[in-house]
Amino acid sequence: MQLGFMKRESLKEKPADESKLGFGRIFTDYMVMMKRDKKRGWYYAAIEPFEDLRLSPAALVLHYAQEVFEGLKAYYTEDGRILLFRPWENMKRMALSAARLSMVPFDGEFLLNSIYELVKLEKDWIPKAPGTSLYIRPTYIGVDPFVGVAAAEEYLLYVILSPVGAYYPRGLEPVDIFVESNYVRTVRGGTGTTKAGANYAISLLAGEEAHKKGFSQVLWLDGVEKTYVEEVGSMNIFFKIGGEIITPSLQGSILPGVTRDSILRLARDMGIPVCERRISIYEIEEAQENGKLEEVFGSGTAAVVSPVGRLIWGDKTITVGDGNMGKATRVFYDTITGIQYGRIADKYGWTHELRL
Ligand code: COI
Repeated sequence: MQLGFMKRESLKEKPADESKLGFGRIFTDYMVMMKRDKKRGWYYAAIEPFEDLRLSPAALVLHYAQEVFEGLKAYYTEDGRILLFRPWENMKRMALSAARLSMVPFDGEFLLNSIYELVKLEKDWIPKAPGTSLYIRPTYIGVDPFVGVAAAEEYLLYVILSPVGAYYPRGLEPVDIFVESNYVRTVRGGTGTTKAGANYAISLLAGEEAHKKGFSQVLWLDGVEKTYVEEVGSMNIFFKIGGEIITPSLQGSILPGVTRDSILRLARDMGIPVCERRISIYEIEEAQENGKLEEVFGSGTAAVVSPVGRLIWGDKTITVGDGNMGKATRVFYDTITGIQYGRIADKYGWTHELRL
């Protein structure tokens, strides 16, 4: 398949103030669009003007949520290079997500090369202010006009781009988190290991209720015993207890985050003891009582890390460290963003530099 190109008549205004980008509301001039149907297989791929989709109101995705997505970023370095961070990991995870939702396979290498072409074309949209980047959102949907419950045969796979600033308005300030003991995000064997849009839809109500009570996000516990910690909001979670970094092991309900994986690697290389295992909310409470709960933070592509100041669990308040962002959290943030923005040598081969 060849990647075509459709030029748009006029280009949009680019954001004037890069300090006010926020997250995910502004989109660039072009998108990648790929199409598949039963007869022809993958028959269309092009960079096209960013515009509204035309879908049948009966399109499968609108009824049964056959949708998966990814999130990655392109970064401008101070010396004018453009870097992507471990983008092939997003392609691999998207293939696994698609398989879990019975969607037909796609060519991940072709998709990644199309993303490179799109970002090159849209390079003037990559913001340069500190902490900003170009968010890349590949999206895969089943679109047959058919309301029977079945896997689609017709698909759209598209990629849109959004210049972004900080994901959370409070940035790196530690936040209060509500320990969710009622709703669950997923269970083992469900879709929690994938980036299915539906996972995020079912998390909204808990998030809204937590917001109303004055909390930033919820801490998700396992769906069966409601005891073991899984994720925080839409991020993976890390604890530093008595000098050791602990994150829930991936055992069938947790998203295998690219940032999560990068932090584990960095911690091991820095000689910080790390462990992937089940960790219960009782253990965290006990660690706090013993003065050993040093740091808690979420990790994800959008925010990199997000420090937790307090966990509110029923009528108990678990305070983390001294309420400030922890030292290890800071080191992970600085090292990962340092590699992403080309300030720190990438000894891992994590970055892909776009050749202009
Ligand atoms: C992340 O990158 O941390 C996320 O998963 C949030 C994203 C869905 C906007």
